[in-house]
Amino acid sequence: MPPYRRPRLRIEPPSNMWKDHIPAILCGTLFLLCAGQSAAEASTGEGKVRADAKSFRCITEMTHVRHFYVDNLLGDLDATLAVADSATGGTYPTGSVIQLVPGEAMVKRDKGFNPVTHDWEFFELDISKDGTQIRKRGFAEVVNRFGGNCFGCHIQARPQWDFVCESDHGCAPIPLTRAMSGALQRTDPRCKATTVSPEDAEALRQLNELLKPSGSNAKTN
Ligand code: HEC
Repeated sequence: MPPYRRPRLRIEPPSNMWKDHIPAILCGTLFLLCAGQSAAEASTGEGKVRADAKSFRCITEMTHVRHFYVDNLLGDLDATLAVADSATGGTYPTGSVIQLVPGEAMVKRDKGFNPVTHDWEFFELDISKDGTQIRKRGFAEVVNRFGGNCFGCHIQARPQWDFVCESDHGCAPIPLTRAMSGALQRTDPRCKATTVSPEDAEALRQLNELLKPSGSNAKTN
């Protein structure tokens, strides 16, 4: 790059930060009008749902639905289960957490937080016996460790399923069998240690085989 062409300094803050701060800015100017707003809401700027590493836990301590697990960060598990158990789908309520494997999660943020993803935030998690760390989080841009864009796959679900794929909601299938996801769930290192069954050990071995990059066949999605 020629020396006289210095890159322009980006002055806009990261997209959500600025949006997050609107309530605080307004409250600064209109202090009296905002006096009633909850302090937590004003200080985090995140709305009601505060998703951080502590929002995630041993997957098998969440609530089991078919082959996956759900939670609700606002304590409204019944509302989450009502949609998860519905034969006709519906919109998952704010605070819902869904996980198929310990390392990936979808969290339903406050209404209007991200219209493109219908307020789902996608997470890629690093888990160990010491707990959870958030490796990546975000909306339509999040790519998992295998190079796949969460949103790009989940948007294929028919509208009534609210971006939840399961096996028959319209998403292209992934090569993760029930035996494999079950084995990953049962061997989540954050859970109390149990012995790994021979079936789970075999499913994990097959999964490792599947994930091995194999020359020109390396997976791109
Ligand atoms: C290649 C496409 C693809 C990518 C990339 C992908 N998923 Fe999925 N995901 C699926 C499919 C298909 C299922 C359903 C699997 C099943 O139940 O058999 C699924 C299941 C899930 C589930 C359980 C609920 C459901 O939709 O069935 C969650 C939660 C989830 N994925 C989160 C994520 C997150 C977070 C990311 C990114 C970090 C991600 N996924 C990336 C295709 C994908």
